[in-house]
Amino acid sequence: MLSRTIFLQLAATALLVSAQGPRPAGGCTTNSFTIPSWLVQDLKYQPGSAKASFSILNRPTNTSTDAACQVNKDGWSSCVTGDESFLAQIRVQDTLATVSVNQTWSCNDRNEANPIKFAAYGENTVNLDTSAEAYTPEITPILIKGSLSAPVSITPVYAPGPPAHNKLGCSASSEKPSWTLSHVWYSDTVGDGLESVTSRVFNLFLVNDVTGHEASCMHGSPVAGETGPAAISCIGTEFQSPFPNRYSINTVATFDPQSYRFSFNQTWYCDDENPAKPVQITASASTILPLKCTTKESTDYNNQPTTVKSCEPESEVLGVEGTIAQTTTLPPYSIEDPVPRADGCTLSSILSPKWTFSAFSLATGNAATTVTFEVILATQLRGFQYPIPVSVTIPHAADADWYPCEIGPDGQNEAPLWPYECSVKYKSDAKQIVLNAAWACQDLDDKHPINFKGLTETTVNTPLSCEKDAEGVNVCYTEDTSFTWVAEIKNVTWASAPAKI
Ligand SMILES: *[C@@H]1O[C@H](CO)[C@@H](O)[C@H](O)[C@H]1NC(C)=O
Ligand SMILES: *[C@@H]1O[C@H](CO)[C@@H](O)[C@H](O)[C@H]1NC(C)=O
Ligand SMILES: *[C@@H]1O[C@H](CO)[C@@H](O)[C@H](O)[C@H]1NC(C)=O
Ligand SMILES: *[C@@H]1O[C@H](CO)[C@@H](O)[C@H](O)[C@H]1NC(C)=O
Repeated sequence: MLSRTIFLQLAATALLVSAQGPRPAGGCTTNSFTIPSWLVQDLKYQPGSAKASFSILNRPTNTSTDAACQVNKDGWSSCVTGDESFLAQIRVQDTLATVSVNQTWSCNDRNEANPIKFAAYGENTVNLDTSAEAYTPEITPILIKGSLSAPVSITPVYAPGPPAHNKLGCSASSEKPSWTLSHVWYSDTVGDGLESVTSRVFNLFLVNDVTGHEASCMHGSPVAGETGPAAISCIGTEFQSPFPNRYSINTVATFDPQSYRFSFNQTWYCDDENPAKPVQITASASTILPLKCTTKESTDYNNQPTTVKSCEPESEVLGVEGTIAQTTTLPPYSIEDPVPRADGCTLSSILSPKWTFSAFSLATGNAATTVTFEVILATQLRGFQYPIPVSVTIPHAADADWYPCEIGPDGQNEAPLWPYECSVKYKSDAKQIVLNAAWACQDLDDKHPINFKGLTETTVNTPLSCEKDAEGVNVCYTEDTSFTWVAEIKNVTWASAPAKI
């Protein structure tokens, strides 16, 4: 029964992966929103002269500067920087050094005519190695994660990274990798080749003893008869974060039905010893599964005769040892960098705010018209969000005024791409909607949502087809019921949402 649960989970995981959408490389703008941060390199502190020096690299812009500081006994000391857009300070207390960076920069890769200005601040404290005359940090370079204060106030969330990457002992115990196999099951069903079905099923559950990473491996083919090792697909059952990882654990496996040899290569990641030098580890392992098989005559679901060979090992768990095939050092701190993604709520709202409208309809009674449409923020990364219905009832006497929206049920959605509040003016002769809406984004920083507001003027540019219903209400729909259109949101303003209590 356990294995059934595992395989069900696996199907859901596979779906989530495919829903993550396109992954363009992050440019200056995207990286400034997602990883506003700096690397501090070559930090040296001379206790004798109380001088410190280092270089600072802005990761989104890939620009750097040198800093030199005369360090005061107490508190912060300002440093002189070659590039004055960088403000740097240092504080040294015994064997601890804290470096702060405060910088403004701009990016024009997304918006050449109107570059976007960023301002960010961050600091980090490190241990100094005091064994030499000049003190240097134990880990280098130093990562300083920043919080943006412009264009919006956010502290971006980094990715969790693949399972156990920073677990103490990850690097050391990876030198002698081993795995535990369980739920091993293999069966071969041979039909008569005409009516009854011939099939093969192979399953097992693979746990990496170093990282604890669990993978479900399986193979199922409707037609057996192929010879030689068959490719087995192995999928991790780890939790899918809303902030997707740049690196994920990968397993490639084969099973040979003749020899029962199960072979695999697995790639995982460790940065427990030094986050500035994350390593990618690929190991190989191979074992002959000690399968015990029984063969019996049976019938398939069509009641046709088949011969079924079913195999499993006597022991519930099997240990396998492997060898390291390759280790690669990755860029500093890259394991928890979020993968560059297509524009989500925040970036779309700032760079090219637009609503997608659909399902427009009117219901005109004696005294009032109810205008209904569906709306969703037009963004590249929509996730599992769907358009929400909005309706406004407007008395005929006053169709130049604003009327509040009634917003459809949001299904307790945590990251909706639709207004939380709006009002509408509708000019019936011109079929013009004016939508004044407020919406919120928290896709980059789940703790500090940003509230946006903006104005959209749009015309329903498609024929309507109308009919009177039983109560005499004139009901109109777009003739093309799938008609969808996009309209710009203008005069967009934003502010940090008040903190939740
Ligand atoms: C960053 O700048 C360095 C030196 O100017 C250059 O060698 C490197 O290719 C740049 N990296 C990227 C990602 O543009
Ligand atoms: C960063 O520098 C600017 C300009 O000097 C200053 O106004 C701002 O308060 C500084 N921010 C922090 C967090 O120190
Ligand atoms: C594992 O990697 C090695 C080296 O790249 C390759 O020869 C072997 O076929 C791989 N094993 C599997 C099961 O894919
Ligand atoms: C929107 O912005 C335009 C141009 O800046 C301005 O003329 C207009 O009055 C603004 N509308 C509203 C409702 O604020």
